Formats: sequence, structure tokens, C-alpha cells
Amino acid sequence: MRSPLFYVGDKHKLISQLKSYFPNNIKTYIEPFCGGGSSFLNISAKKYLLNDLDSHLINLHRFLCSQSKDTKTFFTTLFEIIESYNLSCSFLQKIPPKVLRETYKKTYFAKFNKENYHKLRSDFNKNKDDMNKLYVLLIYGFNRTLRFNSKGEFNLPVGNVDFNSNVFNALNNYFNFMQKHTNIEFYNCDFAVFLNTLELGQNDFIYLDPPYLISSSEYNKLWSEKEERKLYKILKELDVNGVKWGLSNLLTHKGKENKILSEFMKNYRIYEIKSNYISFNDNSIKRDSREVYISNVKN
Ligand SMILES: C[S@@+](CC[C@H](N)C(=O)[O-])C[C@H]1O[C@@H](n2cnc3c(N)ncnc32)[C@H](O)[C@@H]1O
Repeated sequence: MRSPLFYVGDKHKLISQLKSYFPNNIKTYIEPFCGGGSSFLNISAKKYLLNDLDSHLINLHRFLCSQSKDTKTFFTTLFEIIESYNLSCSFLQKIPPKVLRETYKKTYFAKFNKENYHKLRSDFNKNKDDMNKLYVLLIYGFNRTLRFNSKGEFNLPVGNVDFNSNVFNALNNYFNFMQKHTNIEFYNCDFAVFLNTLELGQNDFIYLDPPYLISSSEYNKLWSEKEERKLYKILKELDVNGVKWGLSNLLTHKGKENKILSEFMKNYRIYEIKSNYISFNDNSIKRDSREVYISNVKN
């Protein structure tokens, strides 16, 4: 299952590999860096505690979660926005005209939607509570990233994408998950604060997918060696207290090595993850990247 937030760096392609190392019967599943949710959507548990520092992201999760109670109204509202801003919509077979498709073979969605997307973006920035509009902006935006400037305005440029059947299916999967699992809580704080508030037992499990110290991404900006060390200190303490966890990370990338990680991981189980790690900045596949999964779970 892929999250309808189509988050950069999401785990939907790797989750089946990772899951094989997770414990079997999870009572409470915890994610301090949940991002778009492609991990938790694929995990079966009785209860979910999900956190991320990005307040816009958590607002969107809370919004979509609430919409699972009346998906018909949600889709009607969404398609009304798409229609009223005259955006293309492949899902409803409303595609850009042939002449545009032939002239701009690879960029016709962006050419067609650009002006109206800007209008929608400026309307949203006048009333930032409209989560339906924010979701449409995300779906039509470049790399589908939640990006706000220092004034708090959404500033993502138009992307060469629109609302298609992948988006529709991802939304329905998300709604089905939320209808099936009612014990889900979203938090919006720093991972250390979040982890400190929890009281965990033997059948609980924490999966961590933090920003990677040695790669670049929009959400890596606030991550430094200080956070990296703080995270490992907490994981050590959790291990001493018998709490199960698993951590994804990048050990080497573009000639760099995460030395804090290589030192930390020696004491735990280390699994190589087969991935084509894609760098956010240049979109090229880096063959020298080593992605690992570290865990204290004895399977
Ligand atoms: C690699 S992404 C997680 C992707 C996620 N596994 C998915 O499948 O979408 C890392 C996440 O950590 C969040 N983050 C960054 N610093 C944080 C902090 N100090 N505390 C909690 N979350 C943080 C970012 O907002 C980002 O969503």
C-alpha cells in the first residue's frame, strides 16, 4: 500500500523487506518519524502511535483520517475544487487538449495546469485551514512535496502530474485502513519528546525512519549530528529497558559514511536492505549507497 501523500523517501517499495525483520505479534506499533505513512499502512497492530515534527503533514493525516468517515463527501468536494479551477484530471478522463499533448510531449500536464494551480495556491494561502485545497495542491505539485516558505505560505511549483487512478486507489486504501483500525493517534513533536512520553511493553514495537544524516532532502534541514547522537542514546536506553525497535538508515552514500551509525550499530542486528536509493536533489540512482536496517529484535 502506498500512502496518498506520496511522500519523498517513503518506504513503500522497501516495507515488505523490512517487515520480515519486524516482530510477529505487535500490540502497539510506534513511529516517531512517520512521514507520509507508507510504513504504518502496511503493518498490522492493535494500536498505532504515529508522530512527525512536520505540523502540515500531521494536519493532513488527521484530516484524511477524519474524512474516512464520509469518503463520498470528501471525493465530491475534491472533484469540485479540481473542476472549479479547471485543472486536468486523468481519473475523470479530463486530459489536456491534443495540440498541447503533441507540442509538449513530456510536460503537458504542467503546461495545462500551471496558471490555475497558481490561482489555487494563492487562494489557499489566504485561508490556510482549507485542507481539501492543500491536498489538491500537493497532488498537482512538483514532486508532491509539502513545502512552505518562511512566511508560512505554501510555495511548491506546479508538477507534471494530476489526479489519476493511483491517487484514487491510494486514498481508498488509506480510508479502508482508517476504517478498519480505530485505535490510531497522531502526534506532532520532536522524536525525543514523543518517545519520552510513552510507556511501552513487551509486545510493542518502534520502527524508526529518521532523516538520513548523509543525504539531502527537504526534511533533512533540521537534522544534524546532534539529533543523530540523541536518537542513538535513546535507542540504547530503550534496549536496556527491553523495548523492541528497528531503525532504517543510510550507511554510505556518494562517497560519505555515517560514522556515528557505524559505531552505534555494532551492538545490534544489522540487515542489508536492497534498495536503489534515490537522491532527492538529482533524482539519479546512487549505486554506492548502502541502506541498512538495525534492530534489537531477536527473531
Ligand atoms: C525519512 S522521512 C520518513 C518517511 C516515512 N518512513 C515514509 O514512508 O513516508 C523522515 C521524517 O522525519 C521527520 N522529522 C525530521 N526531524 C524530526 C524530529 N526531530 N522529530 C520527529 N520527526 C522529524 C520529517 O518531517 C520526515 O517526515
